[in-house]
Amino acid sequence: MLRGKIILIGVSGGIAAYKIADLVSRLKKLEAEVHVVMTRAATEFITPLTLAVLSQNPVAVEMFEDTTRPDIQHIELAQKADLVLIAPATANVIGKIAHGIADDLLTTMVMASTTKVALAPSMNVHMYENPILQENLNRLRSLGYQVLEPGAGFLACGDTGRGRLPEPEELVDHIIKSVKAEKDFQGVRVLVTAGGTREPIDPIRYISNRSTGKMGYAIAEAAAERGASVVLVSAPAQLTPPPGVEVIRVTSAGDMHQAVMQRFNECDVVIKAAAVADYRPRQIADQKIKKMEGGLKIELERTPDILFECGQRKQHQVLVGFAAETENVEEYAKKKIGQKNLDMIVANDVSQDGAGFGTETNIVTIFYPGGKKVEMPRMSKLDVAFGVLDEVGKILSVKRKEPQ
Ligand code: PMT
Repeated sequence: MLRGKIILIGVSGGIAAYKIADLVSRLKKLEAEVHVVMTRAATEFITPLTLAVLSQNPVAVEMFEDTTRPDIQHIELAQKADLVLIAPATANVIGKIAHGIADDLLTTMVMASTTKVALAPSMNVHMYENPILQENLNRLRSLGYQVLEPGAGFLACGDTGRGRLPEPEELVDHIIKSVKAEKDFQGVRVLVTAGGTREPIDPIRYISNRSTGKMGYAIAEAAAERGASVVLVSAPAQLTPPPGVEVIRVTSAGDMHQAVMQRFNECDVVIKAAAVADYRPRQIADQKIKKMEGGLKIELERTPDILFECGQRKQHQVLVGFAAETENVEEYAKKKIGQKNLDMIVANDVSQDGAGFGTETNIVTIFYPGGKKVEMPRMSKLDVAFGVLDEVGKILSVKRKEPQ
């Protein structure tokens, strides 16, 4: 399944380094070419010899180990690899990469890499929750690094919480999704909406919601990686758009409506992950509203229901809605499928921990018109995006076989 793929694994010094032996052997079984670079600290937890035997390749630790070779092989590999995965990624290594420090082979290799780099943080829960670490991870995300979600549970240090390295099978799953051999969305035109719209009250105030755009941006990224040509209609978001994606920036539900409708006919797939305001102020004050005695009433009116209109106009398109619910998730989500003429709906119970607005992960269930449902466990938003696209791919291939 991974034949012809080069996976470069950077192991840093955490107790979870022992899991990398299993990871390497699983990747080899899938016929990947695996190379390993270790920090000196990592060699305290697992020997280079173990990983060399399992990967069937020399393991590098020192920058200038072999003075007889003029080339630095692992730096070259960082450019040729299909994916560089740092696992476990310690707080120290994450901090160094986030700040451009390259003082050993592993960090130098990451700096020199021109390929996708994924990091799997693994550490004590308090280190993981430390705002400095979180800021470093956010910085890396905004620079296009993939950050895998650590698992929660009993940690080697005796604490309980988040910080466990995902199990080898989960790491393999991520690697497969990330380097997916086929560009199975090649030639498919995908429109994705993301973020929370802003509905102005006066020149300085607006009504909005807690959407950060992470879910929609992850879908755009996954679709582009799978070869689609992607248009991302983004409400205001503090995120760097994925490479190779056309971005249309909008502010209000009205703007988003216009942008989506303009591009709708030329799309094959429309995925509406944006949190669009259902109501907006009927009047927008020209000047700042001054405070007065007593309360203030703002009359609201409905915004255009973009998804509904897409459902009305739909011809060959695969139309995917999202449902953000806090109760009766299944009932409300299923209702939207019929009302809006959807091919599927991705429902998230936004009251759940690790799901919905602003989180790095999501927990979703996909519902189909016929009653079929596909439940997904808590995963990074990027992995959810890949899962959603797997389902979209199935609908697309059925539609393509239907007579037009
Ligand atoms: O952006 P993040 O911080 O990553 O958070 C992700 C998310 C929670 C925003 C995302 O996972 C999600 O659930 N998006 C849909 C949010 C939403 O508005 O749900 P809804 O149930 O209110 O709307 C249903 C669907 O109708 C959505 O696809 C929405 O885009 C669409 N809609 C809603 C109102 C409107 N006027 N026009 C629309 O097209």
